[in-house]
Parts: sequence; C-alpha cells; structure tokens
Amino acid sequence: MSTPIAVTSVKQLMQICLFVVVVAVVTGATDGIGKAYAQELARRGMKVVLVSRSKEKLDQVSTEIREKYKVETKVIVADFGAREIYNGIKAGLEGLEIGVLVNNVGMSYAYPEYFLDIPELEKTIDKMVNINITSVCEMTRLVLPGMLERSKGIILNIASASGMCPTPLLTLYSATKAFVDYFSQGLHAEYKSKGIIVQSVLPYYVATKMSKIRKPTLDKPSPERYVRAALGTVGLQSRTNGYLPHALMGWIVSLLPTSTAINLIMKTNKQIRARYFKKMKEK
Ligand SMILES: NC(=O)c1ccc[n+]([C@@H]2O[C@H](COP(=O)([O-])OP(=O)(O)OC[C@H]3O[C@@H](n4cnc5c(N)ncnc54)[C@H](OP(=O)(O)O)[C@@H]3O)[C@@H](O)[C@H]2O)c1
Repeated sequence: MSTPIAVTSVKQLMQICLFVVVVAVVTGATDGIGKAYAQELARRGMKVVLVSRSKEKLDQVSTEIREKYKVETKVIVADFGAREIYNGIKAGLEGLEIGVLVNNVGMSYAYPEYFLDIPELEKTIDKMVNINITSVCEMTRLVLPGMLERSKGIILNIASASGMCPTPLLTLYSATKAFVDYFSQGLHAEYKSKGIIVQSVLPYYVATKMSKIRKPTLDKPSPERYVRAALGTVGLQSRTNGYLPHALMGWIVSLLPTSTAINLIMKTNKQIRARYFKKMKEK
C-alpha cells in the first residue's frame, strides 16, 4: 500500500535536499523505531532532540549518537501518558529551527485481549489515547508553526498497519493508529502547498521491545533496516508501509474483503492470546 506523490529520476537528489534542515525531534527515541530514526537522521548530519520518559536512557542514547555521528543532541524528559507535559516540551524546543518531527511514541497491549478484559481498562484507555493520539496532535501544534514560517518541514507520523484494517483483540490500539493515519493524510492535504510534508508510516511487525520479536527476519526487520527503507520514501509517498515486504503484505491484505481480513486477524490474535495465557500458566 502506498500513495505516490511524485516519482522522479532525481529521487536521490530530492532526498538529500529534504534532509538539509537543522534539527530533528523524535518522540519515544530511546528504543526501537524511534531510536533508529534518531540515529539515521543524525547519520545524515542533523542535530537531534530526543524526547522520552527515562532520563537515564535518554542520556545514554544521546551520548551514543553524539559520539558516533558528531552532531549536537538535546534530551527532553516527558511521559506522554500524561497531558500536562506540553508546556515543558515547548520550553525545551524554544529557539530551535525544527525541520523534522518524528511522532513515534506509542503503546500497545501486553497481549491481544477482548476490550472489556484489558487489565486496568480505564487507565489503559487514558494512557493509550494520550500516548498514541494526543502526543501526535500536541507535538504537531508545537512544531508546525515554525515549519510554516520557514515554508519547510517534514512530519513523520508512525501509525501502524493495524490502523489500516480493524484489528480485533487489539481494537483500541488499532483504532488509535487509524486516527494517526487519518490525521496525517488530512494534515498533508492542508499544508503540502505550504512546503510541509506529512507522512503516515504504517509498519507491520518490526523486531522491537514492543513487538517482543527478538530475531529480525525479512518480513519482521530490525528497526534500523526498517527506518532506512522508510526514510527512503519521504517526499515520494505520503502514506506508506515504509518497507518493501510490508508494502507487499499491505497490498495482499487490500485485495481481501474487509470482513475476511477482520475474521483472519481475529483468528490469528485469538491464537496469540491463547499462547500468551499458556506461557503465563507455565511460568
Ligand atoms: N514494533 C512494531 O512491530 C510496530 C509495528 C507497527 C507500529 N509500531 C509503532 O512504532 C512506534 C514505535 O514502536 P517500537 O516498537 O519501536 O516501540 P518500543 O521499542 O517499545 O520503543 C518505544 C519508545 O517509546 C518510549 N516510550 C514508551 N512509552 C512512553 C511514554 N509514556 N512517554 C515517553 N516515552 C515513551 C520508550 O521509552 P522507554 O525506553 O522509557 O520505555 C521507547 O523509547 C509506536 O508508535 C508503535 O505503535 C511498531
């Protein structure tokens, strides 16, 4: 699945020009896909601002990036599970010419579960909406005005393939990611004529702490491999699975009637749920 913007023979030149900007901000930057975006953007010479909840992990990743890529870094400690963090983030971003915003932070379920049986349901609803939805809107509110002043900016919103089709037993997660996808597509249409690129990134499984996949494979790549491929699509696709094997998977799913896809996902997630409970019993 992908929505092409314009594929030209000067793809590489365009890509180089796109990232000739000063600062990139990445949320959820201490692990997985977010860390890989921060590293890859630093490798391309950008200063990076890392936003996450653990100061210790932020300092560790920040030092790693500074030493390896010789770029300036800054850390902002914020827990996106809360709503009252945005004045602090705004103060931390003051005076920076932000060219790239990666809205990456996200949370999913510990295991597939029926909505009413999700442990600590009320708390989980609040946290998931704050982390997966509010963070994307609020970070955009803080960063987009500066990008518009400079008529240049890239916002990469990490949604999920589970936001492309209703995903039973991950219903709340899937619905928050569908929000991110719609928000990104709408925003792209509103601001593309003003020099702003908004990309909806819809990965299938990537081997990270969240997916609990330790060993990368072709269809479940490492975050570094995934991000290198996904960054190659910026400026070319406003909506992308980001990585060729994932694009093929998206295409195959798109051929199925939605009800068939939902039934298949329900069956798969029921099996994953059963395996999870079996493992828990054995512990
Ligand atoms: N992995 C996949 O298969 C997959 C597939 C589709 C979409 N995605 C999406 O990709 C994004 C990144 O996922 P990932 O797999 O890379 O996750 P991950 O490995 O679990 O990393 C998540 C990052 O976000 C930070 N974080 C988590 N909760 C936070 C909070 N409340 N406040 C601030 N920072 C917080 C974590 O910091 P700590 O180190 O402090 O926890 C970590 O740096 C998410 O939006 C996810 O929904 C992932």
